[in-house]
Amino acid sequence: MSTTATTTGLAIETAGLVKTFGDNRAVDGVDLTVPAGTVYGVLGPNGAGKTTAVKMLATLLRPDAGEAHVFGHDVVREADAVRSRVSLTGQYASVDEDLTGHENLVLLARLTGHGKKPAAARADQLLDAFGLLEASGRQVKNYSGGMRRRIDIAASILNTPDLLFLDEPTTGLDPRSRNQVWEIVRAVVAQGTTVLLTTQYLDEADQLASRIAVIDKGRVIAEGTKGELKSSVGSGSVHVRLRDAHQRPDAERLLNTVLDAQVVLEPDPVALTARVGGASNGRGAAEQASRALAELAAARITVDTFALGQPSLDEVFLALTDQPVQDQRPVRDQTSEEATA
Ligand SMILES: Nc1ncnc2c1ncn2[C@@H]1O[C@H](COP(=O)(O)OP(=O)(O)O)[C@@H](O)[C@H]1O
Ligand SMILES: [Mg+2]
Repeated sequence: MSTTATTTGLAIETAGLVKTFGDNRAVDGVDLTVPAGTVYGVLGPNGAGKTTAVKMLATLLRPDAGEAHVFGHDVVREADAVRSRVSLTGQYASVDEDLTGHENLVLLARLTGHGKKPAAARADQLLDAFGLLEASGRQVKNYSGGMRRRIDIAASILNTPDLLFLDEPTTGLDPRSRNQVWEIVRAVVAQGTTVLLTTQYLDEADQLASRIAVIDKGRVIAEGTKGELKSSVGSGSVHVRLRDAHQRPDAERLLNTVLDAQVVLEPDPVALTARVGGASNGRGAAEQASRALAELAAARITVDTFALGQPSLDEVFLALTDQPVQDQRPVRDQTSEEATA
């Protein structure tokens, strides 16, 4: 790879990025390297510092220490150059609730220099692509949560940015709407835009991102391809409910042996959870889970329910930090978040 390709190959590069609010180190020395042309996932619980980091990268907040470059431009000294190449959506209101979907997109397209006809054409094109054509004449305040996220994203890619920040684009959405947003993200990346996606869901990062940074309390606690992350965390977890709580110690020992994984005893006295699909034994999660089920049956341990799922953020954190997720603040709605920003 030539030097030019190497230097232009990064959408984001940060070193020791810090932002403090009073004595709260919201972002506490973050190093990130985001290759261009990919989706990069930043996974972390509420209060981890995701939005604060994104705001610094998008030039909306000034870092207190460290450096950040976006396509080689310093986010403080070359903020205008950065702004010309990025767009941001998520916990920010860019669309006007009182305008219709169509009016919003046309207005924003006009504001960014499109002529009247091209603005209308671009608006229609995006409304169509995002499944909002039917709703295009309705005021945005009457949109569902899923439609609202889609119009937000549509608004932020009117001018096909080189880098799009999607800050928790699916938090609070139903599964169907989440899938629609995921499709949109894939389409955006297919057009060459780099996406920095923050999320609280491992499965979302897994679906979309090629690399993932896990952040907690303002620090990156793990980083890698999703394959690397899964081999440290496990690609799934089995949830078992027994008929009889007395059999739980036996089930725990057995699962521990068969899965070679930490078994968590749930507060519910008949329930256990164990991670599967980690690097330790190289087998797929489903294969391990079915083996575990067979061994439980062979040991005459009666299982009421047995489920294989992706690890939750809680399980990721337990695996990486030996501690459960600690939310640093109550979940607030976007309006109050906006007000404190
Ligand atoms: N404008 C602000 N003023 C004071 N504290 C803030 C502000 N924005 C965020 N914080 C605090 O910084 C920490 C990180 O917040 P945030 O970046 O919003 O996390 P996330 O987006 O991961 O939920 C939290 O403790 C939050 O309360
Ligand atoms: Mg946030």
